[in-house]
Amino acid sequence: MFTRPPGFTYKNNELHCDGLSINKLAKKFGTPLYVYSATTIRERYRILERAFHHVRHTLCYSVKANSNLSILRLLAGMGAGFDIVSGGELERVRRAHKKAIKNVVFSGVGKTAVELELALRCGILQFNVESEGELELLAECAGKLRKTANIALRVNPDVPAETHPYISTGLREHKFGVPIGNARELCRRAATHKYLRVSGVSLHIGSQIGDVAPFHLAMERAVDLAQQLAADGHSIRFIDAGGGLGISYNSAAPVDFSDLAHRYAEALMTPLERLKSRPHLLLEPGRSIVAPAGALVTRVLYLKRNGNKHFTIVDAAMNDMIRPSLYHARHEITPVNFCGPGAKKTQSDVAGPVCESGDFLAHDAWLPPVNPGENLCILDAGAYGMSLASNYNSRPRGAEVLVDGKRVRLIRRRETLREILQAEASSL
Ligand code: LLP
Repeated sequence: MFTRPPGFTYKNNELHCDGLSINKLAKKFGTPLYVYSATTIRERYRILERAFHHVRHTLCYSVKANSNLSILRLLAGMGAGFDIVSGGELERVRRAHKKAIKNVVFSGVGKTAVELELALRCGILQFNVESEGELELLAECAGKLRKTANIALRVNPDVPAETHPYISTGLREHKFGVPIGNARELCRRAATHKYLRVSGVSLHIGSQIGDVAPFHLAMERAVDLAQQLAADGHSIRFIDAGGGLGISYNSAAPVDFSDLAHRYAEALMTPLERLKSRPHLLLEPGRSIVAPAGALVTRVLYLKRNGNKHFTIVDAAMNDMIRPSLYHARHEITPVNFCGPGAKKTQSDVAGPVCESGDFLAHDAWLPPVNPGENLCILDAGAYGMSLASNYNSRPRGAEVLVDGKRVRLIRRRETLREILQAEASSL
């Protein structure tokens, strides 16, 4: 029978997540509902771990991909560190797993003094500094607190990566990082500050990258820089290769994740071997661990036709899952009730209740016949789904559940209207 990512499989003509029926989960917790498979998260984390087993490394899971506390806790329990980009994400890691703080790297182009001081007080592993201004501010904050900050300049290696322009980051024209040619001078300056210690080099070239060649090229450039920095007297203990490894959103073109992970590891490690000091490798994967582990379950509300065009109107919308609207991402949509291989499919736009033509979950998806009241699953929605959800159209955000074998846990309850309105109540 047709199977989807290991966590999502049809059994008895119904889609299941691990051992549980998605229809039953939808009935119990309502829709829209994010359902995650703990087994898949663990499996993908382990695959990446194994691919890098022969170098000293830490997988610093990128919190922005899916920042649910229970998912962070699950990963921290397996030994993950974290890549954060805000004080809010730092607080999440702290609440999920106190000890994981020591394995946090802090990226982002707009860190504030408040955030830097918070991270200094927590004693994170490394600040990935993205500008000269940030370097000066960090030096000031560290001096004030008398705490030493380990820093790596996030360099912009000027490597093109084939992905959506909104999620490509490693070119000169992007706001991220400092030009690699300026890094040496900035590190020299950093070393004059008593409370800054140049401890590494970091980079991140973009997201949803399926080809390992750009990772290799970027790493070559990072290693060249690390050699120069070592010659300048810095002790380069960490090379942070960022995240960005892509997944296949198309079950007709599956990607063997073990194979990809091994090719990725090789692409990064060949240049790294040139460094005699054998620094510790940091990686910041997000999507590749959690995307296939999650699905968004939504109920069909109406079927409608405008001329030749068919619409399947569902109760999830762009506020629940913005990827199709924002990046023209194509997520497979599959009915929870199996329709049989012979079912006649028609093309339909799957769209939600939000009042924008840009509100769609799929354009012209081939769907077997489904009726109002039935559930659909938007697959590969575990990354950048819930973490990008909003309250647009005053829609409360959905619930999230984590399935582990035959057990399920509500890991975020459905938001209420009351919660949404609360912050504005005092202005009335
Ligand atoms: N490290 C840094 C510094 C990043 O900016 C990102 C993602 C990652 C790691 C994790 O990248 P990943 O392994 O997940 O590709 N919302 C977009 C993706 C934005 C990615 C932003 N940065 C999407 O839905 O495709």
